[in-house]
This record gives sequence, C-alpha cells and structure tokens, in this order.
Amino acid sequence: MRIYAAPLEGITTYLFRNAHRAIFGGVDKYFMPFFSPAAEHILTVRELRDLTPEHNMGMPVVPQVMTRRAEDFLWATEQVRELGYGEGNLNLGCPSGTVTAKGKGAGFLARPEELDAFMEEVFSKVTLPVSVKTRLGIREAEEFDRLLEIYNRYPLTELIIHPRVQKDFYKNTVRLDAFAAALPRSRNPVVYNGDLVTAEDCAVFSERFPGVDTVMLGRGLIADPALPRKLRGGAPADREELRRFTQTLYQGYREAYGHPGGAAQRMKELWFYLIHLFADGERYARKMRRVRSPQEYEELEAGIFQDLVLLKEAAGPL
Ligand SMILES: Cc1cc2nc3c(=O)[nH]c(=O)nc-3n(C[C@H](O)[C@H](O)[C@H](O)COP(=O)(O)O)c2cc1C
Repeated sequence: MRIYAAPLEGITTYLFRNAHRAIFGGVDKYFMPFFSPAAEHILTVRELRDLTPEHNMGMPVVPQVMTRRAEDFLWATEQVRELGYGEGNLNLGCPSGTVTAKGKGAGFLARPEELDAFMEEVFSKVTLPVSVKTRLGIREAEEFDRLLEIYNRYPLTELIIHPRVQKDFYKNTVRLDAFAAALPRSRNPVVYNGDLVTAEDCAVFSERFPGVDTVMLGRGLIADPALPRKLRGGAPADREELRRFTQTLYQGYREAYGHPGGAAQRMKELWFYLIHLFADGERYARKMRRVRSPQEYEELEAGIFQDLVLLKEAAGPL
C-alpha cells in the first residue's frame, strides 16, 4: 500500500514534515498545505518558507494550490516547477466558509461549468503533472456524478477523494457507498482519504476496496505519527521518540518564529490530535486548550509524558 500524508494547514508545516520523516517515516509523499496565489503573482515570505527546496530536501513533497482562476493556477504551477517539484495539487476540498464564499476550495464544486472551463485551460497549457484533491460536492453525494464526468476528461496524475460534501465539514461519517460507486467510473487513478485513524481502519478499508492501493492519512497520522510505519509492519510509537518529535518541533518553531508564543500555539494545534494517543487524555486536552504562555505549555507537555499511559493506537473519533 502506498501512503500519503495529507496537508493540514497550520500543522503539517515543513518542520513537521522533516521531523516526521526523520523520526517515524513510512510516507511515500507529503502534501503541503495550500497556498492561494494572489493576482499580483508574488510568493509571500510565508509561502516561500514552506515551499523553498532547502526546507524539503530529499523529501517527496507535493505543493498544493487553491484558486479558481486558471491563469493564477498556471502561474503557481510554473513557480512550483521552477522550484524543482514534480507535481502540483489542486485543492477542491477546503470547506471553510471564507474560502467557499470566494468560490474556491470545495466552493468551486458548486460551479461545474466554470470548473470544466478552468480544467480545459489548465490542461491545455500546464507543464507540470497535476493531481486533484476533491470532496463529493456541496450538499449531496450525487453531485459527484457530474464532477467525475469533468475529472474524467483530463489527465490527472491522481484523483484524491475525501468522500464528504462541503456541508459535512469534518462531521458525520465518510460516504463510503458514494466512494464505492465512483471508484470504477474514474478514468484517473484514485487515492482514498478520510477517517483512517488506526491500522485496523486501514485493514477494513483495504478489505472492502482491494483495488485502491494508495491512501492519504490526515488527522490519523497527526494523532499517531507512527501509523504509516505500523502499516508497513513496524513498531508503534514509543514515548522517547514521541518526546523527541514534539521537542524537535517546538524547538524548530521557536527558532522559526523567534519567540516562543507562536511556537506554543502551533504545538497546541498538534496536541489537539496527538492527545488521543494517550489513555484518559481528555483532562489534559482541556488544559491544553487553555494554555496561554510557553511556560504553561512546557509544563503541560512534560506532565503528559510523565503521567499518561501511551496507547498503541489513537483512540478515535478525532
Ligand atoms: C486543521 C485542518 C487543516 C487542513 N488543511 C488542509 C489543506 O491545507 N489542504 C487540503 O487539501 N486539506 C486540508 N485539510 C483536510 C485534510 O487534508 C483531510 O482531507 C481531512 O482531514 C480528511 O482526512 P482525515 O480524516 O484523514 O483527516 C485540513 C484538515 C484539517 C482538520
């Protein structure tokens, strides 16, 4: 099975990707959180921090672009190609209201005609292989019939499907029946993404969908960074390597931000998921949400490693 790491804005930064690869590994490709090209066609310092090749050395990474303008997508993929990457990904899944209000991310799925014209222009000009990460639609899974017809007209390197609709956000269960119906009708290779949290979840998925040989792991990988390694027959995370992982990240963020407050904030977002790898972590999860200062963060992290029992699998749901 091929394993991809999903992009999570604010969490799977270049520091996360490097630390994860060095300590746990097992990932075939890391997808970067999206960047949204501005009409002026300038990469910001923040965007470059994640995109710069020096921050992604020796790592299979795929930059992700979110836009509804073909011209901007073509400009962005050209930058990505010049930086040395071999693939660009289009975000058609982000459910956030501020994004969809602009017709971007999952919001683009409400405009199939415009999406088709966008793809037509992109694929007649693009010089980089392009994959797409999509939801099933806005309100109903049935919307995917029309969307799949469009995707089928273009040579995507991969179609990554998260089988929820925009209105689901991350709630409810994934719509596996709709995924099953779409699978044989896709002309492009399909990657599955959604709610795989334990090795058991992945085994159940593979049993039902033996033809899908690539899965993308998001929150499950954050909650249990050793999940990809376990899927390859390796060991669960141990306390020392997890501590090394969180400390490498915290230190990296402190250096990158130049002040510890921003670093603690980044770490809180990571712990929102990672706490699920500890038994009875709820009390600490509540405390973590209330953390205000770097000192509070450092004490709480030390307390988690000292007091809580580490599990072999993350306890979902996330
Ligand atoms: C906090 C957060 C940030 C995310 N950021 C992105 C993003 O930048 N690009 C993207 O395509 N998906 C993003 N996603 C969606 C994930 O990549 C993934 O599709 C989703 O979490 C479902 O997979 P999972 O159940 O394995 O987590 C984000 C999800 C969360 C929870």
